[in-house]
Amino acid sequence: MTNTPDTPKLTGYDFYKALGSPRFVVAPMVDQSEQAWRILSRRYDAHLCFTPMFHARLFSDPEQGHKYRKEQWSTDKADRPLIVQFCANDPQILLQAAKLVENDCDGVDLNLGCPQHIAKRGHYGSFLQDEWTLIRDMISILHKELAIPVTAKIRVFPTVEKTVEYAKMVEAAGAQIITVHGRLREQKGHNTGLADWDKIKAVKEAVKVPVFANGNILYYEDVQKCLDYTGADGVMSAEGSLYNPAIFAKRDMPPCTWEMAQEYLEICRDLCPTRTGIIKAHLFKILQPSLPHHTDLRARLGKANKFEEFWDITMELKKRLEEERERVGETELAGQEDIKGIRKYGYWRCQPYFRPELPADHGKSKGEKKKELKEAEATLKRSSESTENPEAKKLKESEAVLA
Ligand SMILES: Cc1cc2nc3c(=O)[nH]c(=O)nc-3n(C[C@H](O)[C@H](O)[C@H](O)COP(=O)(O)O)c2cc1C
Repeated sequence: MTNTPDTPKLTGYDFYKALGSPRFVVAPMVDQSEQAWRILSRRYDAHLCFTPMFHARLFSDPEQGHKYRKEQWSTDKADRPLIVQFCANDPQILLQAAKLVENDCDGVDLNLGCPQHIAKRGHYGSFLQDEWTLIRDMISILHKELAIPVTAKIRVFPTVEKTVEYAKMVEAAGAQIITVHGRLREQKGHNTGLADWDKIKAVKEAVKVPVFANGNILYYEDVQKCLDYTGADGVMSAEGSLYNPAIFAKRDMPPCTWEMAQEYLEICRDLCPTRTGIIKAHLFKILQPSLPHHTDLRARLGKANKFEEFWDITMELKKRLEEERERVGETELAGQEDIKGIRKYGYWRCQPYFRPELPADHGKSKGEKKKELKEAEATLKRSSESTENPEAKKLKESEAVLA
């Protein structure tokens, strides 16, 4: 898609078709959906990629903006179709930032989903979820003034009704594709939990523009399940794609961790120089199933900060894992599902990450835990010092949590 002043601006499904009717979408990810990652993802069947979220004010700052852009943003002609995402809380500033990319991408997305503390402080992302006038103004200014379409990525509300009302408002303001992340603003970190596909389905049924569904994609098989369940036009994956960059590619088994790590490093070396912090974060995720079996390499990776070190670690891991795969074999590890739906693969293959379950006292503040600890100590003094004593056990557990 090229945008010239004479090209009429595409809307809804015409826009979606011009993008190539994408069904497999790589999510916007700060410091992780950078150009090198997009190259890798497209090789493995991603149809559309989003850039990481850029901060509209920093991006368009007349004095410092060029530095921010140089550090954060790169693209080229092969990097399409592409949607650039911004966070913002001022329509004019958002427009200024969007104007700087309108000739280098296919659409501009407004982030209405970021739930992090930094977004609360900066007043953007999901913390605008209740400021509908501001959201409307930001989307509609891009809809009117930008040469390319505007899209939006939202989170859901606690009820289906409010979620649908919200999505309709976003559509009426001018968003031409809506990505629905089926989690609430509060669902983050250890509280991430499951995304609600029913709410995504309800939005899809209520709006006329295309909808991308986001959340709960762990394996290739989940992509079609999500499309079937929600009726969405495309599925967006973030974490699933970080742990398996070939998540959208149909194949018998997920790729080997070292294969993906090596290919990504080659892209960074030969095509697209990338900041070492970003590379390291990718390696930790791609290699996640393998590193616990080679803790010396995990420690080396933790300390590494040069490309050559990343390369050497990956090559050493490759040598070891190839031998281990040969020795152990894969008959018992060919993707059989357990009762929780977790598939069994060898630790040399890319696999999703499951957050560890929280200790039973999750949610208590450190103060509360200290108080509990003191009470347990006092009780202990009064009782015998047996290790079988439940209070002693509780004390030990509290100490472990506080440590
Ligand atoms: C490392 C990381 C960075 C993210 N950065 C962004 C971002 O820049 N913009 C955004 O809208 N969402 C961001 N997200 C959220 C994802 O786009 C996505 O909505 C969320 O992770 C749920 O999808 P998933 O279940 O496939 O991971 C990020 C997520 C991760 C894991």
